[in-house]
Amino acid sequence: MSNRHPDSDTVRAALALAVRAPSVHNTQPWQWRVGDRTVHLYVDDERGLPHTDPDHRELLLSCGAALHHFRVAARSFGWNTVVHRFPNPDDPKHLAAVEFVPVTPTADVVAMARAIDERRTDRRQPTSWEVPEAFVTTLVAAGVAEGAMVSEIPGGGTRIRLVEAFRAASAEHRTDDGYQSELARWSGRHADIEGVPARNAVLADDPLTREFHGSTLTEGILRDLDVHGRLLLVHTGSDDEMSRLRAGEATSAVLLSATVFGLATCPLTEPLELPGTRALVRTDVLSDSGFPQLIVRVGWAATSAARVPATPRRPLEDMVRPLE
Ligand SMILES: Cc1cc2nc3c(=O)[nH]c(=O)nc-3n(C[C@H](O)[C@H](O)[C@H](O)COP(=O)(O)O)c2cc1C
Repeated sequence: MSNRHPDSDTVRAALALAVRAPSVHNTQPWQWRVGDRTVHLYVDDERGLPHTDPDHRELLLSCGAALHHFRVAARSFGWNTVVHRFPNPDDPKHLAAVEFVPVTPTADVVAMARAIDERRTDRRQPTSWEVPEAFVTTLVAAGVAEGAMVSEIPGGGTRIRLVEAFRAASAEHRTDDGYQSELARWSGRHADIEGVPARNAVLADDPLTREFHGSTLTEGILRDLDVHGRLLLVHTGSDDEMSRLRAGEATSAVLLSATVFGLATCPLTEPLELPGTRALVRTDVLSDSGFPQLIVRVGWAATSAARVPATPRRPLEDMVRPLE
């Protein structure tokens, strides 16, 4: 190992962890290019969802999550990253150029990197066991440190209106042929390299859960469930591409920190995909003071519930190329 930049095996190992990041419908919309001393992230907009995500917000959130996963992995291998976001004004698909500086990894970052393989999107309702306040404070701080805002959605009227927004979005999507054909293309799979497998999509009467195709995952237990768990809203002061990328990085930080605590997590975006319900969330939850990007549900899975299986990924060779 050179002491000035990581060797190719180290970069490859960090990329193998980066692509475990969550992405909308498990589209994995990223391309990585590896140079002698730098690693570059590009958005692969051919893997976009024109009906579900027409303005590419979730595409960028997904790439932001992968960028944060990469940074955590590299740091755990002894390389701090220096990230130049949108380094080329003539190429908006070039999301980040990453340079490296040697660092001694801390136990915290090693725990975060370990959480990458442990994290799953768990769509089952969490139990009613309380999530300690200090844990929630840590999750919020982890997201905020990545350049977005994170707020817990309070109970009472705000939460009731949010659940209504989920129901309204789901009803609108049910009759949207374009949305439905994308869902059919990207979910209900059995053994594949992309998309949401049937075994990861839950069969439940839960307004927060997206109705994927062919769901076969059942609730682990049917009692002592918390209706919605704790809901953390990742939001930003503006809604440009940089804000979306940073919101994705913040989402990853929240998810991995929650996984370190042993909490189950689920990213949720359905009401933010439609202008009407998105405006409702903006007004009701943020009092028109910012832009909602993604909601993370956190809570304790039942100890008796089987572990959710890992979702598949495309081969690394499809997503990683040498820099030309
Ligand atoms: C931007 C974004 C939006 C997502 N929206 C939802 C959602 O609304 N409902 C849901 O159940 N999962 C959602 N997910 C989770 C993805 O479906 C999940 O990450 C993907 O299927 C890969 O599975 P994994 O997270 O278990 O690795 C979202 C993930 C991201 C990054």
